This record gives sequence, C-alpha cells and structure tokens, in this order.
Amino acid sequence: MRPPAMPCSEVEPLANINITVKTRRGDYTLAVPPRSNLLRSILGAGIPYRWSCTQATCGKCQCQVLEGVESLQRPTVNEPARLSQTLVDMGFRLACQAKVLGPGPIVIKQG
Ligand code: FES
Repeated sequence: MRPPAMPCSEVEPLANINITVKTRRGDYTLAVPPRSNLLRSILGAGIPYRWSCTQATCGKCQCQVLEGVESLQRPTVNEPARLSQTLVDMGFRLACQAKVLGPGPIVIKQG
C-alpha cells in the first residue's frame, strides 16, 4: 500500500551542499543543490579554476578531496584512466566528472 501523497508545500526541499574550493589565489565557498556537477558549479560561481575539455581527457580540473569524499558520486570509469587508480585512491578527482550528492560539507584543493 502506498503512503498518502503529500502536498508539494509540505515536501522539504533538499538542502544545498557547502563546498570549499582551495586554489592558489585563495579559498572560495559555494553551496550547490544535490546532483550538481562539481566543475560547472565552481565555474558558475565565478571561481577561477583551471579546466579545458570537460571530458576527462586534459586533466586540468584535477583536485584532491580533502573532506567529504563520501558526498561525491563514486569516480567515473574515465577518472582512473586519466589520473591513475593510485591518485583516485588518494582522493584525487576530476572536477568535470564529479557529481555532488551530499550531505557535505566538501573541501577540495585544486591541483
Ligand atoms: S576539464 Fe579536462 S579533464 Fe576535466
């Protein structure tokens, strides 16, 4: 038996996920909705961040997840191929491939 449907006004919206991005130019913070692409979110917030291809081939968007790795979707099959499995195991990700799931917070360091 299905539970009764709730009016939309009673459904709690999913909370945004807090992300800190550490770059050579400084630290930046942003909050993004679940299922956001990490690189698109960073660039959309106006944060200066290296990237080029968005297709897991150039490696320029590489980052190390310092906190909250469990709040990201597991690495795609493309990431170990570009970064090596050792780097992936150390928490490195390609921001263009990483999807934010939550609950956060997430801290990443570019490079
Ligand atoms: S932007 Fe090229 S690998 Fe992510």
